[in-house]
Amino acid sequence: MNIGVLVSGRGSNLQALIDNIEKGNIEANISVVISDNPKAKAIERCMKHNIKHRVVERKNFKNKLDFEKEILKILKENGVDLVVLAGFMKILSGSFISNYRNRIINIHPSLLPAFKGLEAQKQAVDYGVKFAGCTVHIVDESVDGGPIIIQAVVPVVQGEDEGKLSERILSYEHRILPQAVKWFTEGRIKVEGRKVTVKNARYGTIPFNPDLEGF
Ligand code: GRF
Repeated sequence: MNIGVLVSGRGSNLQALIDNIEKGNIEANISVVISDNPKAKAIERCMKHNIKHRVVERKNFKNKLDFEKEILKILKENGVDLVVLAGFMKILSGSFISNYRNRIINIHPSLLPAFKGLEAQKQAVDYGVKFAGCTVHIVDESVDGGPIIIQAVVPVVQGEDEGKLSERILSYEHRILPQAVKWFTEGRIKVEGRKVTVKNARYGTIPFNPDLEGF
């Protein structure tokens, strides 16, 4: 399976995918990484690991449609089957999404449907929830609202600020995103309406979280 990863910044989730592919945990190939930010640290990671990367900046296109057309062209040229949004900060249009229906996934640092949008960890701390977490979901036309593939629960520690909470959530992002990608590569994901089922997934033996398969 060929994966295309869209990034805008640090790229630690991209790194988690690279590491798991290199270790042989996931049988897939990152055929291209596209960044809308030329300064993204994610680009350095690509260079280090010899991964093809392209920068596509919104400001170089007269409208969103043309910007997205360029991204789609690169994805198609590289034979991408699954698109992973790993900290990609642009909202994709319906026409983009329809090109990869149920084959675009996103990692979001909250237990959706709570705390959609930006600064989800801060929203969680400000709200005073006792459990935060992260979600990998299918991308549809709604923002952070598509069918949920996997979530991990992270307890909020009393007195902790959003920086510390974000770090702890991130360490789970780095486990559930590779897990979701692995399920895709194994053809185990079925999407029916809002429900995603994973063939032979084991849930419930670890308190709060699904069993992870070697991550
Ligand atoms: C992560 O917290 C992810 O959940 C959110 O953006 C952040 C990206 O981090 N969508 P990184 O670039 O993968 O390090």
